[in-house]
Amino acid sequence: MDFTLSEEQLMIQQAAKDFAETELLPGVIARDDAQKFPAEEVKRMGELGFLGMMVDPKYGGSGLDTISYVLAMEELSKVDASASVIVSVNNSLVCWGLETYGNAAQKEKYLTRLASGEIIGAFCLSEPEAGSDATSQKTTALDMGDHYVLNGTKNWITSGNSASVYLVIAQTDVEKGHKGINALIVEKDAPGFEVGPKENKLGIRGSDTHSLLFNDVKVPKENRIGEDGFGFKFAMKTLAGGRIGIAAQALGIAAGAYDLAKKYSKQRKAFGTEISNHQAIAFKLADMHTQIQAARHLVYKAAWDKDNGNDYDLSGAMAKLYASQVAMETTVEAVQIHGGNGFVKDYHVERMMRDAKITQIYEGTSEIQKIVISRSILRN
Ligand code: CAA
Repeated sequence: MDFTLSEEQLMIQQAAKDFAETELLPGVIARDDAQKFPAEEVKRMGELGFLGMMVDPKYGGSGLDTISYVLAMEELSKVDASASVIVSVNNSLVCWGLETYGNAAQKEKYLTRLASGEIIGAFCLSEPEAGSDATSQKTTALDMGDHYVLNGTKNWITSGNSASVYLVIAQTDVEKGHKGINALIVEKDAPGFEVGPKENKLGIRGSDTHSLLFNDVKVPKENRIGEDGFGFKFAMKTLAGGRIGIAAQALGIAAGAYDLAKKYSKQRKAFGTEISNHQAIAFKLADMHTQIQAARHLVYKAAWDKDNGNDYDLSGAMAKLYASQVAMETTVEAVQIHGGNGFVKDYHVERMMRDAKITQIYEGTSEIQKIVISRSILRN
């Protein structure tokens, strides 16, 4: 077993770290406060190749492996989880979904611009009454011969207003259940398509999360991804990879909070010595470090499975379940180690604690990951 990262992987990791520290860090508190989308920073990430990391260079991507992607996700998330969720959705859900299942014309028309970061995309599965229960799609895409007519509402859509291209999951044939669901590419300026209000969130406040409204939106048949009825499988297969990206995000939030807590504990003095000299604090750091390393191994293993053509439903779900739990626990402890300062925005850890929570919810709640894991282990 070889845990060594390649020269290229180390280079990507360093590039993401440098970018995060020099370009994301300075405005991260202000963006969180104002719920400001990091437009300039996203543009820069596109220029640096972070928005289409695994996409073939012939479609404008960086042609890297999933390990490089999770390394970059971890570094970006150490500093700004709002920026990193935009990266994750664009890479794992939108670009990967289109590259893997889209046809040549769709890749030509959309993937190249998405992978280069010229535009960003959104993945639209969740609905007011279909979050975890994703087969219960109420949004309809009625087959009208050469086009579909889309009606319904999608909820909690990442990059809901900033995206230009939307992958929308909708029910065409109710009788067929999940086999009657399609995935359609919808452009932002399609008549009848409207971006709903922005959500006022606990965390990842820099990313723009919206509901989307579809009112008789005409979508040409050529915008359907895959065969008729492939939409639900498309969503499931795409989300399986997405969960690796979110697991890496959770890992990054945890590692970022741990780094800050460790640094603080070596500076802050109480009872005549640095607080890191008190076992109460040193043991907390020991637990955090151990949990983060365990989460990292799960994340790398899931990415390695994906890169090596292995099934990654199980390893991705385990990585997300565990890393998101570690993110939550670690950020709470990081606030505790900072004491009163941890409760103050300037020290970053309170934001990280708020950001960590969503990693236990989106791209499948922790309970959904346990469904995926238990079904997988009980199958054999
Ligand atoms: N790969 C391929 N096919 C899959 C699959 C996978 N990983 N998982 C399920 N399927 C297939 C099944 O094989 C089945 O097809 P067949 O009938 O042909 O065998 C079909 O999908 C339905 O599967 P289930 O019977 O298992 O369906 P279920 O109703 O029990 O639900 C579930 C399965 C895993 C709970 C699923 O509903 C699920 O993942 N829910 C969570 C949804 C989710 O993650 N939402 C996140 C929203 S996106 C987001 O958050 C993005 C963002 O902005 C950050």
